[in-house]
Amino acid sequence: MDLESALVTGAGVLPRARYTSPDFAALEFERLWGRVWQVACREEEVADVGDYCEYTIGDESVLVVRSSSEQLSAFHNTCLHRGTRLAEGAGHLEEGSIRCRFHAWRYDLGGALVEVVDAEEFDPIPEGTRLGAVRVGRWGGFVWICLDAGAPALLDYLAPLPELLAPYRLERMRLRAHLSTVLPANWKVVVDAFNEGYHVQGTHPQLLASTDDVHLAYEQLGLHAHYGRLPEARRTLTPSPRLGLGPGDYDEGEILESFVTGLGGVFLEEERAVVAEIRSTPAAGEPMLARYQRRRRELLERRGVPVEAFSDDQLTSADDVLFFPNLLGPLYPGSAVVFRVRPDGTSPDRAVKDTWILEWPRPDEPPRRARRRFYPDWTERDWGLITNQDYANMAPVQAGLKARGPGIRLNRRQEANVLHMHRTIDRYLTTP
Ligand code: FES
Ligand SMILES: [Fe+2]
Repeated sequence: MDLESALVTGAGVLPRARYTSPDFAALEFERLWGRVWQVACREEEVADVGDYCEYTIGDESVLVVRSSSEQLSAFHNTCLHRGTRLAEGAGHLEEGSIRCRFHAWRYDLGGALVEVVDAEEFDPIPEGTRLGAVRVGRWGGFVWICLDAGAPALLDYLAPLPELLAPYRLERMRLRAHLSTVLPANWKVVVDAFNEGYHVQGTHPQLLASTDDVHLAYEQLGLHAHYGRLPEARRTLTPSPRLGLGPGDYDEGEILESFVTGLGGVFLEEERAVVAEIRSTPAAGEPMLARYQRRRRELLERRGVPVEAFSDDQLTSADDVLFFPNLLGPLYPGSAVVFRVRPDGTSPDRAVKDTWILEWPRPDEPPRRARRRFYPDWTERDWGLITNQDYANMAPVQAGLKARGPGIRLNRRQEANVLHMHRTIDRYLTTP
């Protein structure tokens, strides 16, 4: 594959090889995945000294270890003796050290080699020999790693998102569920599918009765992007303009109820009760949406969520954020659903999608660990109607992209974030 022929064109056309070519995927491993900051795990998954999480990307494996109460360390997950992978998945390292299963070399939690069996039979091993360090950083309650020593610092890389998203206090949220599955499509097909609202009318037509899918705002922020009910596209209790309905043709209360239900789980019981109360006791003078926002603010405050920094609009919408290149999802006051998408192994045709469901803990709630659940085939689980609809698109998109055809074209406004992400990828790929 000649790289030039796979790059986004000046006119914004995306050649198909970007999604299907093993050569393109290989170049991504070298120049993209080898250089960006990526989320390895949640901090709470490595809460206690000795806890570890493995993060894999392509053939690379990085071990994140809680090496002291204050410190996280990250290493290339390979023994310095004969190269064995040292640990897999997530768990706890017993006896405060990392012991290789093969010939029992031992490393301390900071990666220093502390024991070599029959050391005198080796040529002298220098004092201070340690596992290869990987850069590690923390933001938002996530542990981030970067394989490139020359990359910018994490906060510079993420700018301006940390400032923009500060009110959500993601670092105070707790993991309620951690679900992973494999989707039959290139990782970018998956990211693209969650990085625009244009597909709502085609894929989720049931949502049109309760949501204005047209007036979403899209904005590009540094390497990253963002869409949702930004100030110029505020939430209203109206259906999609695509349905052509007039004010007498729909019921605001029904719309409120279905979008609150559609926001999904976290405070659902309490919120449903608020909606029911609002619908059954009409208040003169105060619009239904404003009333719900006011009541929701009270509900969140009772839960201990600092709500002062949120606008009323933010209380009834989501900030859909893409942390370039592969972390995205809707953030709500008090909860968030964050997805991470990466190639499955080195395949250009399959992706692993991890979902972290985060919620604000109740003030009296003891910390607990969410179990990681993995579904090798996404059809083994019911992900809810909307997500099932999204996932069902993956195989046909990937299969279609393999057919011969012209490059794919994007909607200039509603898919602007998709284009921005692909152009940013190309900036990495064209930098040797
Ligand atoms: S490969 Fe690790 S101790 Fe031999
Ligand atoms: Fe969708």
